Amino acid sequence: MSDHDNQPSDNQPNDNQLGEQTLWHGRFEGGPAAELMPFTESLSFDKRLWPDDIEGSRAHVRGLAESQIISVIERDAVLAALGMVAAELGSGTFVFVESDEDIHTAIERRVTEIAGSAGGKLHTGRSRNDQSATGVRLWLKRDLAVIAQRVVALQTVLLQRAEEAGDVYLPGYTHLQRAQPVLLAHHLLAHGWALGRDLDRIRDTLVRVDVSVLGAGALAGSSLPLDPVYTGDLLGFAGVFENSLDAVGSRDHIAEALFDLTMIAINLSRIGEEWVLWTTEEFGFARLDDGYATGSSMLPQKKNPDIAELARGKAGRIIGDLTGFLATMKGLPLSYNRDYQEDKEPLFDAMDQVRLGLGALTGMISTATFDTARMQAAADSETGSATDLAEWLVIRGVPFREAHAIVGALVRAALAGDGSLRDLVTAHPQLGPDAAALVAPGVSVTRRTTRGGAGPGPVADQIVRFRAALAAWSVRVGTTPGASPGSVAAPT
Ligand code: ARG
Repeated sequence: MSDHDNQPSDNQPNDNQLGEQTLWHGRFEGGPAAELMPFTESLSFDKRLWPDDIEGSRAHVRGLAESQIISVIERDAVLAALGMVAAELGSGTFVFVESDEDIHTAIERRVTEIAGSAGGKLHTGRSRNDQSATGVRLWLKRDLAVIAQRVVALQTVLLQRAEEAGDVYLPGYTHLQRAQPVLLAHHLLAHGWALGRDLDRIRDTLVRVDVSVLGAGALAGSSLPLDPVYTGDLLGFAGVFENSLDAVGSRDHIAEALFDLTMIAINLSRIGEEWVLWTTEEFGFARLDDGYATGSSMLPQKKNPDIAELARGKAGRIIGDLTGFLATMKGLPLSYNRDYQEDKEPLFDAMDQVRLGLGALTGMISTATFDTARMQAAADSETGSATDLAEWLVIRGVPFREAHAIVGALVRAALAGDGSLRDLVTAHPQLGPDAAALVAPGVSVTRRTTRGGAGPGPVADQIVRFRAALAAWSVRVGTTPGASPGSVAAPT
């Protein structure tokens, strides 16, 4: 029990009620039923917002003093109490009580215990509606920045591995059928560019997240002389809400952040699927470091790519976080509805899983060994040069459709056992020994010479451009491209 000695005690709890007073007890004759709190509480998951709630409260109480709604003495008493509460929460000594419905309630309760009547003024002109929405925005700004840093760490590893790969090539696939050889560097950087778009999306989303909604009150602003611009500035927001109903009654920025996280999760899932294939005995393109693989409880020989599989598996759950929350928002009338409390679990889950997944995949890729001989042998199947043969004919004036038919017929003959493609090309009147040289191992990939293509020339240019882009992305997210993937601190 906390001692609410400055509050009326006319609503005594009965057997089926909580033993604590709620924030709204004045309007109620009886206390909440025992079944209410377990269903409606959010403390179990919004606890992590405590640093943001403290920060928001500090700004609010300064604003109250600035507007002379409370005295400087009261302001300082509340600020000191907030400091003590922060210390308790930070050290794990904070004692939660039964009536602490959410982190906002818990902090206000404790501030009031410490600061007495000054603490009772903290919530002046404020609602949990603008308070919690402000807290989540502060949290999102910080945590999306961590995600962005981890994306850069993964891109950095992809670039390092691409640079190391030199002229190593592997089959490029369409329909998961071998199509044309591509440089390994080209393949790795394909993921790097996709992750760059994820970073761009996060930056765009942050523009809409970076808006203070403190001062919107429950839904309509206040009769008190509050200044939302003053508190928004104190909190470091780039902008301030224009419409109080919209401020507390919209969550599109959260849906957007969830989409950004989901898209990253999907990109990680696709990388994961590739590594699941690459580490099979059938492909054998890569071997995982022991630290990034798992064994089987029964099969002694097994080395399993569980990180890659979970990158794939967790994407399903994160898609659920996004679609579930979109469904929550659908049909909600203005402005705040308690349904919005349901924004937090999907958001926190998606954020946590994407953060962990980025770290795990980055480590897995940076420590894996490529079997370049296996990759190149797979790419050296003769038919991988079929398009080069057709284009060789095109340069000599043969219409492409005709060239396609000529080479297709030779591939069919080779597959039917009439001889190797190379021999058939050598013997063909329109092709001959010069064309047959294209079928030799390693030649085809060198013929991808156009901008953005898969051969050594354009890939060298691409690496230069990717390095420059990565430097720009790194500056934007406040990290250095060379930083080790583990150097990004995980938030609590
Ligand atoms: N925990 C709640 C949330 O996250 C706080 C808002 C409660 N507001 C209210 N009017 N009951 O949305």
